[in-house]
Amino acid sequence: MMSLRMTRAVFTAITLVTSTLASISPAGQSVVVNGINYYSAPEVVSIIDATSDMLSRASTIGVDLIPLTVFSDSSRSFTTAVFRSLVDNYTSSDDVFNTGFLQAIYLKHTGSAPAAVQYPLGAALTKYGTKLFMPARAYQSSVEAQGYSITGWRTELPAGPYFMSARNGNVYQAYRLYPDTNMAFTEGLKANNNGTYSVMSAAVYGDHTPTIGVPSRLYYTKTAAKPLAGVRLGVKDIYDIAGVKTGCGNRAYYGLYPPRTVTAPVVQRLIDAGAIIVGKQKTSQFANGESPTADWVDYHCPFNARGDGYQNPSSSSSGAGASAGAYLWFDIGLGSDTGGSIRGPSAVNGCFGNRPSHGLVTLDNVMPLSPALDTPGFLTRDPLLWHTAAKVLYGTNITSNFTSLPKKILTTGVPTVASTESQAIQLDFLHTLQAFLGAKSTTPIVPASLWAANPPDEANGVSLSELLNLAYPTLISHQQYNLVTQPFYADYAAANNGKRPFVDPSPLIRWAFGQTSVPADASTQAIRNATIFRKWWEQNVVVPSPESCSESLLLYVQSSGSPNYRNVYRSAPGIPTGISTGRLSGFAEEPDMVFPIRQVSYNSSITLQEEMLPVAVSVVAAKGCDGMIFTLAEKLFAAGILKMPKVGSMAF
Ligand SMILES: *[C@@H]1O[C@H](CO)[C@@H](O)[C@H](O)[C@H]1NC(C)=O
Ligand SMILES: *[C@@H]1O[C@H](CO)[C@@H](O)[C@H](O)[C@H]1NC(C)=O
Ligand SMILES: *[C@@H]1O[C@H](CO)[C@@H](O)[C@H](O)[C@H]1NC(C)=O
Ligand SMILES: *[C@@H]1O[C@H](CO)[C@@H](O)[C@H](O)[C@H]1NC(C)=O
Ligand SMILES: *[C@@H]1O[C@H](CO)[C@@H](O)[C@H](O)[C@H]1NC(C)=O
Ligand SMILES: *[C@@H]1O[C@H](CO)[C@@H](O)[C@H](O)[C@H]1NC(C)=O
Repeated sequence: MMSLRMTRAVFTAITLVTSTLASISPAGQSVVVNGINYYSAPEVVSIIDATSDMLSRASTIGVDLIPLTVFSDSSRSFTTAVFRSLVDNYTSSDDVFNTGFLQAIYLKHTGSAPAAVQYPLGAALTKYGTKLFMPARAYQSSVEAQGYSITGWRTELPAGPYFMSARNGNVYQAYRLYPDTNMAFTEGLKANNNGTYSVMSAAVYGDHTPTIGVPSRLYYTKTAAKPLAGVRLGVKDIYDIAGVKTGCGNRAYYGLYPPRTVTAPVVQRLIDAGAIIVGKQKTSQFANGESPTADWVDYHCPFNARGDGYQNPSSSSSGAGASAGAYLWFDIGLGSDTGGSIRGPSAVNGCFGNRPSHGLVTLDNVMPLSPALDTPGFLTRDPLLWHTAAKVLYGTNITSNFTSLPKKILTTGVPTVASTESQAIQLDFLHTLQAFLGAKSTTPIVPASLWAANPPDEANGVSLSELLNLAYPTLISHQQYNLVTQPFYADYAAANNGKRPFVDPSPLIRWAFGQTSVPADASTQAIRNATIFRKWWEQNVVVPSPESCSESLLLYVQSSGSPNYRNVYRSAPGIPTGISTGRLSGFAEEPDMVFPIRQVSYNSSITLQEEMLPVAVSVVAAKGCDGMIFTLAEKLFAAGILKMPKVGSMAF
């Protein structure tokens, strides 16, 4: 009786709903194939013209979404050996394909002997439990003899795994689902077919984090027009992407504003070149410097996979850095660097990372920290992809017309005699680089002393430190307060009865500094000071050259591989004053690129074992010489001097 009444109540509710206007759209489906989680996208990419024979055969598989593989083969004839070889190739080159997708096969054959399907193919198919084999029309007669279904499709598809509906033959793209175990993403994304993106709606278990879906690598072929085809890209959550929100690492900001309607031009350029955006990545709040764990109040800081897994992943582009260090399925992250936000995370997570020359591309639709210093760059394990992505993003604004590499090396802060394992690694790299470039010697420099010995007249006798000590905190606090904070506070107050939103301690103290501790024209002063420095630096230290773009390369240590635990109570965040080398390359507007070189051991207080952390150097050249450093990285990689880091606890 009870269950009957409940049924009636539900029935009434359904009647009410159907009599009302509703907005219903499919959001894809989750499917498990051989124990692996997949997402079948809602967009129909093709339709198999199903015969009734095929539909009845399909119904024996027992699910509506049938895993299907499209085979693309140009061998002379399609033989059992070719089939087996393709299965091996798809398995080894694509993490999305698995042999569970051989339930149904669509063969696209372009070989010169189309009729020559050689049997016994049937036995090869039986091995995988293949129920449906849909060969090209040319095979019809011989295949019919084997009792397989014949069919065609509406839209030609690239090879790879798909899902096909047994009801109507609709074909959908297959995404493999990965848990974001290192908490590096804010949301998984997938492209809609109208230029916008949606949050990935499927979820798998994964340490309370978002789920990232990646489409099959087999769908994509790189071409001159699409050099990034199929490249899996993460985007720092300060870049706008149409269809989804921009959060800037702040919960109130994320909640307040609606999804963006425009994609930032720098992101669009990567999309146009074929990149696949797989998700938005974590940033420290409003891209300010934060240390784990106390500074990260609104969101938890990403986990650095290196060593014991409890090391600081560094600050604002740490989502991209942590992903590059942790996930084999992840190709490249778009980060941003104002005062080290790409260089820090790439060094400690053990990947390549570049702060480009300042001003190469527009940063419209990107949250500013300081437009005078903000730059967009990449974090990736792959030095070749790094250069390819840079050519797409910066176009002709990075020099590629140099005729030789620099023959002069400057260093700052690199020891001349090694007393630790890390220093021995640094010196060894330096000597190898010197030999590789055919450089006669390496000149250690101390920028403040060079300045003191030969200051520019405009400096009126002040030291380098006096000139630049306050320039960075002044620029970021003033510029961000005016461009981001003021409108955010006003919009939030208007929507919340005059209330102020929560802001993490680090951006809050920096904004306060900008408002109270410096004169109103301070950012103009800071830019003037930085300009005096830049002109002096490019005439006296890192000087342009017509042959090698930059007369010298300046090397410094970006990470020595010392442990920096995240479970440590630190002092409250302060004002980032000072003139570290990383700041100087920023003021000089020069490319500053991080090479992971080797690793050193330490005794972990977490695992109580010896663990390894990456050692990384920074390479600086004259403004606009980014292309030359990318070329150097490629050549050092080809020579085996630089290596592609692995993912996980040990980079090498
Ligand atoms: C599989 O890959 C190998 C290595 O790239 C290639 O030589 C072979 O032709 C591929 N097999 C087929 C059937 O395309
Ligand atoms: C684009 O497609 C998505 C998914 O179908 C939809 O939610 C969104 O409203 C569309 N946006 C526009 C601008 O058409
Ligand atoms: C290169 O820089 C110029 C000058 O700033 C700019 O107009 C142009 O759009 C930039 N090129 C690219 C590819 O962004
Ligand atoms: C600019 O440099 C002068 C010294 O010439 C220094 O007193 C001043 O504090 C600097 N201003 C900023 C904002 O960095
Ligand atoms: C490289 O190209 C730039 C811009 O076209 C030009 O200014 C520079 O002189 C060229 N350098 C060489 C070495 O040809
Ligand atoms: C780790 O501790 C062991 C035992 O005390 C010591 O022999 C070893 O040198 C230490 N390794 C490092 C890298 O500090």
